[in-house]
Amino acid sequence: MTDLRQSQIFRTSKLEEADGPGLNPTATPTMGDIIAARFSRRGFLKGSMASAAIAATVSPVALLAAGEARAQGASAFSFPEVEAGVDADHHVAEGYDADVLLRWGDKVFADAPEFDPRAQSEAAQERQFGYNNDFVGFIPLDGAADRGLLVVNHEYTNEHLMFPNVVTLQDGEMVVADATEDRANIEMAAHGGTVIELRKEGGKWVPVLDGRLNRRITAKTRMQLTGPAAGHDRLKTSEDASGTEVLGTINNCAGGVTPWGTYIMAEENIHGYFLGELPADHPEARNHERLGVPGASYQWGRFHKRFDLGQEPNEPNRFGWIVEVDVMDPASVPKKRTALGRFKHEGAESVVAKDGRVVFYLGDDERFDYVYKFVTAGRYNPDDRAANMDLLDEGTLYVARFEADGSMRWIPLVHGEGPLTAENGFESQADVLIETRRAADLLEATPMDRPEDIQPNPQTGRAYVMLTNNTKRTEANAANPRVENAFGHIIEILEADGDFTATTGRWEILLQCGDPSVAEVGATFSTETTKNGWFGMPDNAAVDADGRLWVSTDGNSMADTGRTDGLWAVDTEGDARGTSRLFYRVPVGAELCGPCPTEDMTTFFVAVQHPGDGGEDWEGHGRLSYYEDLSTRWPDFQDDMPVRPAVVAITRQGGGRIG
Ligand code: FEO
Ligand code: CA
Ligand code: CA
Ligand code: CA
Repeated sequence: MTDLRQSQIFRTSKLEEADGPGLNPTATPTMGDIIAARFSRRGFLKGSMASAAIAATVSPVALLAAGEARAQGASAFSFPEVEAGVDADHHVAEGYDADVLLRWGDKVFADAPEFDPRAQSEAAQERQFGYNNDFVGFIPLDGAADRGLLVVNHEYTNEHLMFPNVVTLQDGEMVVADATEDRANIEMAAHGGTVIELRKEGGKWVPVLDGRLNRRITAKTRMQLTGPAAGHDRLKTSEDASGTEVLGTINNCAGGVTPWGTYIMAEENIHGYFLGELPADHPEARNHERLGVPGASYQWGRFHKRFDLGQEPNEPNRFGWIVEVDVMDPASVPKKRTALGRFKHEGAESVVAKDGRVVFYLGDDERFDYVYKFVTAGRYNPDDRAANMDLLDEGTLYVARFEADGSMRWIPLVHGEGPLTAENGFESQADVLIETRRAADLLEATPMDRPEDIQPNPQTGRAYVMLTNNTKRTEANAANPRVENAFGHIIEILEADGDFTATTGRWEILLQCGDPSVAEVGATFSTETTKNGWFGMPDNAAVDADGRLWVSTDGNSMADTGRTDGLWAVDTEGDARGTSRLFYRVPVGAELCGPCPTEDMTTFFVAVQHPGDGGEDWEGHGRLSYYEDLSTRWPDFQDDMPVRPAVVAITRQGGGRIG
């Protein structure tokens, strides 16, 4: 998510900027203010001396050249580009269908109640598709191309869009009514994840509501803590003397599907769910502060004491992990794999290395936080699924240091090595993992501009790091080359010898994002990129079976970039490298998550998250957006139905490969 977004910001009086405190808690203007001040789209003179070269990016000559280059096959993509812009609907490239597959409130089980937004209940929501779909993964069943499990994270809830009669306007701002216990429980049931069987009928995907493996995971689902930190005193609470049993998962942002077909849910902005105050001089104070706990964005702690720090000071230590779900057993207990560290986990995309070990790339989404990877100790066994089921409990977690000369190092986070000793408060590997951020600080990892999804390309030994933005950066460095980085950038990691387990490598900046026709932005899209093709704020990414990169975004808007978020196809190879084109765009207020191409590239699943959350800056609405006065009622467009986050299946008309 962009940040804990307007819903939480409006809900509480704490107007902290919601992507957390970071290492630099100094108050600064919001990103919108900075963009308005520095990169005013209307105020810039294009084609001045300083920007002559950049102005050429949109000249007819360049566009002609682009057409020729594409005709010569320089680009890996050939679809007709969507026009960038903002409106109430979604749009896909001509020749493709974008079909709404699963909406918030849709049945996940045959016996689930029909969605009734004016009579929501916890019991109903536990049987229905959750809110704010983020990560999407597809796990084929029985090797069939027309049958599989869709796994979907439900990252968070927007109360002002979900619930009728909770918003009042005061002095031009939204105020959301205090939660009731019922509402808190509905919100908890709308979090987590969904596992649902899909079948292809007549070329279109349909949910199989009586699928044996269908499942809802929520903020109350029983889970197990495993790996080096499991059972540690710092994970024990009054409800769980073992330090191994925890209820639920929250703020599951991006994620992954492992080579052995399990579903990974990454716990990201966990701080917002805790309220209250730690007892004075509590030993967890430093740890909680480093993660922004308590963020007090949600009020669950008023009804569930485990979210109240004063009553359960260790509960936050049981969140911020990577969760693994065995989707082949709907009764399986999801496992929080502590070996992969604890921070604001964006995602966990993986790849099998040459020697059979499995490498997971992990971003910590906060300004000035880090890029990590985890290398399993054991090797993947493609012939024995059961043998892989605990691979994530043993291995090495590394944090990245990007050097100015284009080299990089992966520094291991191992107790007893370097500064990770008792002297610095790390008594064991459990301490290193519980306080991963502080360990990485001491190892002098490179503070980045909000690392989001990191996508390896198994064909090339490279990985693509989405760095979404960081408007608080005041000093540039080679890997984060722009101060007040409003539009983000993408780094390409080249692992040594193409070996994903390597501890050294090289890196390059693939793209600096933003409008290339505005010189001061400093965007570096290729000159073949059209006015529709550039984007800001890269967030999620996918590499398809042909090794092509797709990027989805979070934070574009009429005011900031003159466009909604969407899915862009980005060339990484040859002369076309750095060329981007728009394939799909979302309705006003939404971000695009979870881009998931199927292995045969005939379907692209995408997740439209928080549609209708915003629209003040769009002439089609021009005011705050909330349940009673929405900027869009996508995808139903019915007066009695609110806007609904949804997963969309994109296919080519008449069938065939996408792109
Ligand atoms: Fe949930 Fe970092 O976006
Ligand atoms: Ca994200
Ligand atoms: Ca984001
Ligand atoms: Ca991804």
